[in-house]
Amino acid sequence: MRLDKLLTAAGLTRAQAKRAVAEGRARVNGEVARDAGLRVDGAQVLLDGRPVTEPGEVYWMLHKPAGVLTAMRDAREKTAFSLLPEAVRRREPSPIGRLDRDVTGLLLFTTHGELLHRLISPKYAVEKVYVARVEGTPDEAAARKLAAGVVFADFTARPARLEVLGERLVRLTVTEGRYHEVKRLLAAVGHPVLTLRRESMGGVTLDASLDAGESRPLTDEETGCLFRAAKLERN
Ligand code: URA
Repeated sequence: MRLDKLLTAAGLTRAQAKRAVAEGRARVNGEVARDAGLRVDGAQVLLDGRPVTEPGEVYWMLHKPAGVLTAMRDAREKTAFSLLPEAVRRREPSPIGRLDRDVTGLLLFTTHGELLHRLISPKYAVEKVYVARVEGTPDEAAARKLAAGVVFADFTARPARLEVLGERLVRLTVTEGRYHEVKRLLAAVGHPVLTLRRESMGGVTLDASLDAGESRPLTDEETGCLFRAAKLERN
């Protein structure tokens, strides 16, 4: 981790971290640090003589509302990242996968690079569960086509599991995470999506007590679920 990142993670704003280094108030292994970009992994860091310790990783869930981009920053549009509390934004967690602007529901964020990589990699086949309002009500034949793996011009989708929840309401479980995947799959079997919400990912379900736009840290148990889904040892 870079020195400036460590200082912002410990609660300083970026400007304060830069100033603290410029003013010679940060020491790394006893030496005054002059470079805010210095790598400090495993080093002893002091700010104004007090130790600064590396904080734990961020694991966070957001109930993404419609109308926001899954991006960290955007010059014109509101982003999902901007909805996180400021102290969390300072840690710069990345979204785990993307939801389209109109799609709502579970969006996870983490600072753990390897976990992020695995959860979005098709190789680890992490389950993502969506609930969709669709045109018409799919029948058994549609479910069979999805289970067999729909063939598109540009790729063949992995098998997806369809449950009909009611009239024009379905749950679809996928393990791939391609661009517009759920919309494309349901359109391909004759049931274009009207609205789409992600319910869960890697065994972590959207907290029903979170209103759209609200977020919270993952519990220890939820974090454990993600590590298991990613076949990654938790350290
Ligand atoms: N599939 C889609 O079509 N859109 C999303 O946002 C996520 C999955």
